[in-house]
Amino acid sequence: MLRLIGIKKINIAVFISGNGSNFKNLIIDSLKKRSKYNIKLVISNNTTAKGLKYARKFKIKKKIINYLNKKNAEKTILIELKKNKIDLICLAGFMKILSKNLIKKFGKQIINIHPSLLPKYKGLDTHQRALNDKQKYSGCTVHYVNSRLDSGKIILQKKVRIFKTDNSRKLAKKILKQEHILYPKALKKVLVNL
Ligand code: GRF
Repeated sequence: MLRLIGIKKINIAVFISGNGSNFKNLIIDSLKKRSKYNIKLVISNNTTAKGLKYARKFKIKKKIINYLNKKNAEKTILIELKKNKIDLICLAGFMKILSKNLIKKFGKQIINIHPSLLPKYKGLDTHQRALNDKQKYSGCTVHYVNSRLDSGKIILQKKVRIFKTDNSRKLAKKILKQEHILYPKALKKVLVNL
């Protein structure tokens, strides 16, 4: 167990593949006065991930991982995590599934944000699937990561009402806005127990 004594902050690595709006949002939260964590590293499997611009802007170390060979990719990831003394991983739109081996070898907590009310709509295309099923609500979930996709213990969820006029794009936008509130909140909850 890690103790949050004095000024010791938790080192976090954020994993992204795309826009990185959650990444940016976590950086901003980490810069608040009472924040108990640093975003120390960003890892992306995608060289052209738009979110990488926030690494430049906020001077966060970035590592791009070539995923042609998953075993090698994860080997490199584990080295980087160790080198940067990472205490916790936040997945934020990372489009690769972490292997059992990586999860075990890292040995510390990994959390993820998913744009649905889990256990509903694991995987991709969550908004369209919720609309197709004529759901009244969707939302977002922050959960612990285990070796099964979107299946770890739930930390926090936020419900979002679906209106008849919503399409997938509108719903995604509404939910993303809530994600930006939920992720820092869930992280706080996790850090209290570290
Ligand atoms: C978010 O909707 C997140 O829930 C999902 O991927 C999206 C990432 O968005 N896992 P962004 O890259 O953080 O803007």
